[in-house]
Amino acid sequence: MEPTYIYMDHAATTPMHPEALQAYQLAALQTPGNPSSLHRWGRQARSRITTARDSLARALGCRPDELLFTGGGTEADNAALFGAARAQRARDPQRIGIVTTAVEHHAVLHAAERLAAEGFALTVLPVDAAGRVSVADAEAAIGPATAVVSVMYGNNETGTLQPVAQLGELARLHGAVMHCDAVQALGYARIDLGALPVDLLSLSAHKIGGPQGVGALYVRTGTPWEPLLYGGSQERRRRAGTENVPGIAAFGAAAQLAADTLDARREQAEAVREALLGGLLARLGPGIVSVHGDPDCQGRLPHILNIGIEGVSNETLLMNLDLQGIAASGGSACTSGSLQPSHVLTAMGLAPHLCKNSVRFSFGLGNTIEQADKTAEITATIVARLRKR
Ligand SMILES: Cc1ncc(COP(=O)(O)O)c(C=O)c1O
Repeated sequence: MEPTYIYMDHAATTPMHPEALQAYQLAALQTPGNPSSLHRWGRQARSRITTARDSLARALGCRPDELLFTGGGTEADNAALFGAARAQRARDPQRIGIVTTAVEHHAVLHAAERLAAEGFALTVLPVDAAGRVSVADAEAAIGPATAVVSVMYGNNETGTLQPVAQLGELARLHGAVMHCDAVQALGYARIDLGALPVDLLSLSAHKIGGPQGVGALYVRTGTPWEPLLYGGSQERRRRAGTENVPGIAAFGAAAQLAADTLDARREQAEAVREALLGGLLARLGPGIVSVHGDPDCQGRLPHILNIGIEGVSNETLLMNLDLQGIAASGGSACTSGSLQPSHVLTAMGLAPHLCKNSVRFSFGLGNTIEQADKTAEITATIVARLRKR
């Protein structure tokens, strides 16, 4: 990476951690075998997958055999929704309800919409101004016909946490499968599947210093669920296809690191966030800068800061920031290219023109207080110039 580049788009993707990269290289270069082969390279490849699965299971407090590796967070979300919805309906044709929220990632929302097109009954719960779903609304929506409840752990655009434990209890009460997209939470929230009433949980490696295109789905033992992919008997027949061994090995190394350094990661992200927000507010004032999401650190992930800047379009600001060597984003990576106002901010009640003033800074390894100060200074200078026009 360019040494002076300030990368504050870690919620879109994180650079690979050197230890994860080393694990990747070892698997790719040293013993590049197929884990289904019986020879020594094959056995070595299999053992790398076992090591990674054990690391991830330790980090999450679950059994290794409850985890299957996927080709990323999107596949994990799709496998969770389609797999649980179809299995529930096969057991009981009356169970066709899907309950989710308006702020889910498109990997969940579009999968749920597809299920609705296949005859499932979809309920999309609204959120409040902080982006949080109400337990009372969920209570009214979840019932004996609910097949799947899918609610994310923490939002990718705002960081807002959802009451997943309470919603999981509700789902359990009615025999519904509880799915949680924890793609942004891994590495920043302590996820204990021994205590959290969740049946399916989606994860992605590239948000925690692992490679892109690798993810995992946790499937609690006994959960009504069927596979998405058919073919070979990999992943105990739950995800066919030759495993991405280097990617999985690197994911395991990154997950281990993220678990071992969770408190330090949280503190560092929070400090950088505070320095950037404080610097922006001091220079531009609260009349110009507003925070989208939950301002209380107990109610949000520490590594995401979504702000609105009055009178400045995010596209122009992001272009100017990029020219000055700062990477941020205009919302989620998937929507920022499409000029659509963010569905998350819209669901939180923001008018379309305010969605287009919003910028997401997200933090990770390598970000420092000095970088936050410099970013605040450069952003404030650009904003003052653009607002004068
Ligand atoms: C909350 C959330 N879910 C799912 C995904 C999709 O993960 P992947 O990029 O690994 O497909 C993302 C990625 O941005 C995300 O932030």
